[in-house]
Amino acid sequence: MSGPRRKWPLVTLLLVLSAIPVMSGTLRLIEVAGGPALMPANHRYGDFPLPLVLHIVGAIVFVLAGILQFLPRFRRRHPLWHRRAGRVLVPAGLVVAASGMAMTLFFESQPNSGTLLYLFRLGFGSLMVITSSSGSPRSGAVTSPPTERG
Ligand code: HEM
Repeated sequence: MSGPRRKWPLVTLLLVLSAIPVMSGTLRLIEVAGGPALMPANHRYGDFPLPLVLHIVGAIVFVLAGILQFLPRFRRRHPLWHRRAGRVLVPAGLVVAASGMAMTLFFESQPNSGTLLYLFRLGFGSLMVITSSSGSPRSGAVTSPPTERG
């Protein structure tokens, strides 16, 4: 999986997978900002939508900056942007995970969402904190110049 062409199925898959959360998140942000209700009603965040707003903004930044990292041509032509995007990804991932876990723990539970979803959210949130932290500049992954040709 090192040639530029071989990366395209992965990048396309990431784009497809991120399209729904990016679109639904944008519509929810419009609603929270006082715009029309374009999404199914969700009263869980009630009077305190801050964790949801942080979660959605962090998620949009995380998925879009994340996809850029998988584009070999972009990495080669814009190594500085590649490093900057890496530095943005770490805090964005932590914000997504922390706000997601905060909503899981402190928001009123969603109708028909069981214990399994609750546990999955806490599990994936913790995993995201660990994986985001392991991408810190200290690991060298962000600071060292991209030497890979593929
Ligand atoms: C990159 C990964 C993620 C993306 C792109 C993402 C995206 C989103 C979006 C767009 C929403 C808003 C849905 C709506 O307004 O109806 C949302 C809600 C939510 N997310 Fe995430 N999320 C991600 C990761 C996580 C993780 C790891 C957790 C668990 C810790 C989590 C927990 C939640 C919770 C609890 C809600 C509120 C759901 C509700 O009230 O119905 N998310 N997420």
